Amino acid sequence: MPFPATRLRRLRRTAVLRDLVRETRLEPGDLVYPMFVEAGLDGRTAIASMPGIDRLSIAEAVREAGEAAALGLPGVLLFGIPAHKDHEGSGAWDDEGIVQLATRAIKEAHPDLLVIADVCLCEYTDHGHCGLLRSDGSVDNDSSVELIARTSVSLARAGADVIAPSDMMDGRVAAVRAALDDEGFSDIPILAYSSKFASAFYGPFRDAADSTPAFGDRRAYQMDPGNGDEAVREALLDVEEGADMVMVKPALPYLDVVRRVKDATNLPVAAYNVSGEYAMLKAAANAGYLDERAAVLEALTSIRRAGADIIITYHAKDAATWLQ
Ligand code: PBG
Repeated sequence: MPFPATRLRRLRRTAVLRDLVRETRLEPGDLVYPMFVEAGLDGRTAIASMPGIDRLSIAEAVREAGEAAALGLPGVLLFGIPAHKDHEGSGAWDDEGIVQLATRAIKEAHPDLLVIADVCLCEYTDHGHCGLLRSDGSVDNDSSVELIARTSVSLARAGADVIAPSDMMDGRVAAVRAALDDEGFSDIPILAYSSKFASAFYGPFRDAADSTPAFGDRRAYQMDPGNGDEAVREALLDVEEGADMVMVKPALPYLDVVRRVKDATNLPVAAYNVSGEYAMLKAAANAGYLDERAAVLEALTSIRRAGADIIITYHAKDAATWLQ
């Protein structure tokens, strides 16, 4: 009797064997590419804290969307930077708003590519919060929800394939569902940012989208990083309210939450590999501390292994190129 009797190493001997027994695969079809579209921009502007990612004009966004489609990516997630911000974030629900215009242009040029519209007010409000403010500076949940629903209908009308509310107000999934149904968009699915943590890893995004709160922070509506049970509760509430897909955000520091939400909901789960996660790997790779390709593919595979069906990641185009 040889010792030890079980030799797991046997299955690691050759690349073909390793491939045969691999449990988790990463494919371009799992990845969604986020893009920033800026009103009035000619061409593109680099985002300093996100090397390789630019703010785009509508024409450049259409071009990048075409590249994403050609690489086998199923969809893009759109964020807008409006020409003007105001107290109510009116640019968000303007039928001629930047994301509405970009959505129409992308769908016209690339009809099979999914356009997922992020729905939030923070890129459109002059104070940078995700909802409407009361006179004491706190965010008013219910009036914010009405505007989130209105924004969702406007984006569906523009041709968005999926509506993704990221504001973290209570009850917004039910309100968005009802508003979409009333306006004839009962076939448009909702991807709810269900378990969204108040995270330091959104820093680069806020530079990119110019959405850093002018005062305070988002801890009154986003989740405390210590809370896993609550993350599951948030996801289950959104499912009850009609979410078709749920999201955990950020991804890498919350892989346990990804697994728990997947097991609890049995719905398609998205994980958002956010701007700060991207910036960390980029900075280390650019300094020569890491092999970018190997590190990115390992990180994305880990997110899939944790239970994510969909990964939203700024690495999407690079990863799809490497995976081909
Ligand atoms: C809008 C929103 C944010 C992100 C996605 N949607 C910023 C925030 O909540 O501050 C962050 C995405 C990223 O960091 O890549 N509410």
